[in-house]
Amino acid sequence: MVILNMSDSFHHERIAVIDFGSQYTRLIARRLREVGAFGLVYSSNVSFEDIQGPDLKGIILSGGPSSVFEEGAPRLDPQILKSGTPILGICYGQQLIAKEFGGNVHRSKAREYGKASIDVLSDDSVLFRGLQSSQQVWMSHGDHVESIQNTFKVVGRTASVPVAAMESESLKIFAIQFHPEVTQTESGLKILKNFCDFSGMNCDWSSENFIEEKIKKIHDQVGKDLVILGLSGGVDSSVAALLLHKAIGSRLHCMFIDTGLLRLNERVQVQESFEPFALHVHWIDASEEFFHGLSGISDPETKRKKIGAIFIEVFEREAKKLNAKFLAQGTTYPDVIESKGIGGAVLVKSHHNVGGLPERLNLKIVEPLRELFKDEVRAVGRTLGLHPQMVARHPFPGPGLAVRIPGNVDREKVRILQEADSIFIHELMISGWYERTAQAFVVLLPVKTVGIMGDERTYEYLCTLRAVTSEDFMTADWARLPYDLLEKVAQRIVNEVKGINRVTFDITSKPPATIEYE
Ligand code: XMP
Repeated sequence: MVILNMSDSFHHERIAVIDFGSQYTRLIARRLREVGAFGLVYSSNVSFEDIQGPDLKGIILSGGPSSVFEEGAPRLDPQILKSGTPILGICYGQQLIAKEFGGNVHRSKAREYGKASIDVLSDDSVLFRGLQSSQQVWMSHGDHVESIQNTFKVVGRTASVPVAAMESESLKIFAIQFHPEVTQTESGLKILKNFCDFSGMNCDWSSENFIEEKIKKIHDQVGKDLVILGLSGGVDSSVAALLLHKAIGSRLHCMFIDTGLLRLNERVQVQESFEPFALHVHWIDASEEFFHGLSGISDPETKRKKIGAIFIEVFEREAKKLNAKFLAQGTTYPDVIESKGIGGAVLVKSHHNVGGLPERLNLKIVEPLRELFKDEVRAVGRTLGLHPQMVARHPFPGPGLAVRIPGNVDREKVRILQEADSIFIHELMISGWYERTAQAFVVLLPVKTVGIMGDERTYEYLCTLRAVTSEDFMTADWARLPYDLLEKVAQRIVNEVKGINRVTFDITSKPPATIEYE
């Protein structure tokens, strides 16, 4: 299975990263971008035919949990090694290469995991060009290469791994036991860059070049047809909208569907930030339909499904009024990798991409951000002039505030939550903590507690503050917000929001909890 097929590739130079199941594969693609190289991830059973093309400059074989000794361990299409395309094998990738070339792969006495020091054994090594003769690297392996035929030059060794790095310039094949993609490998980026230079790459991947090339590609794909896009005001859909607008102008129609479950003044904020771009946006207030549909529903899954179904109904109804041929989506590269299930990852964003709509409306899909990581989407957004506050926005789930109100949802609860949430976010912003958290919000719990205000007894809702740090939202830690800040937020919420008399702070990480409450 190819993760991104050739028609998705548009850049003039590409490195194919073949995934053997390493937890770091995605990082390899990520790090390549940092040295200006465009890497795309493919699954291990691709053939050379699947990945070849005029833009293919190099191939990286990732690490993986398997052992080359195991029956059924992933193999490589032999054509790949014979192709003459520069190859870099990492960890399991190195062991596969060694096995193919008659080297000795040994099972290590114990799994080696952590930092190691590598001695560079050659002055004219390609991978270690410009680097010192002793390097700190990161190891994570069970097997290792003990010896290799002299077609290859051994260019690096550690105390426990005799062939920690090997090269054959004539075969254009390079292989290392350690992980250059992990930051603990001090010169990892330089090693990847050296490989890219050997592969003859210009390493000119940047958000400016991306925009230029993507606009051409959108023109070719869309021709003179109309495109519709669900604009939520989140970073992905906002950047996708600006990019498409730059490419096709008024032939882009954006739909902003107000579900009634958005944050306080969200519609106004989105309206203001898109004003300078003269974007064609259809503002649709569907809140009545959503509240009506949600009434009496408290089960989280039923709630999500209901919201998804109403969203599709509204979108479909509005889209039919236009004669569009394409549906644009802000799908990003992690969504693509996750939805293909690399490493068993599960798809979290099914609603976000309006599942099922393209088929129902007979629309073709345009996904201009499909090759980008989140920080690259933000960089493109900045280059396109998107307001800094929009660029830096925390993610917001498709089902909106409904998943932050466990149990029944109604207008009054949404009003209470919106007000509390806006106080929390404002205080995070003015204290500089908004950028230091990956996501932060208030949750309105379906519990009332007794309180005392002035001389009066109160019986109101309890809310909890959730603030997390996270790299990829697959795992998260609770943010260590200062006590003073928490105190101020709690005081303001209780004093200013009618309906809440108690505030708590959630100190659970993910796992075992999730970030959202439903
Ligand atoms: P959880 O709660 O699973 O959330 O830890 C991980 C990330 O995904 C977001 N999330 C969603 N985003 N539609 C979305 O577009 C959804 O249904 C959805 N559910 C969770 C969540 O906000 C967090 O960033």
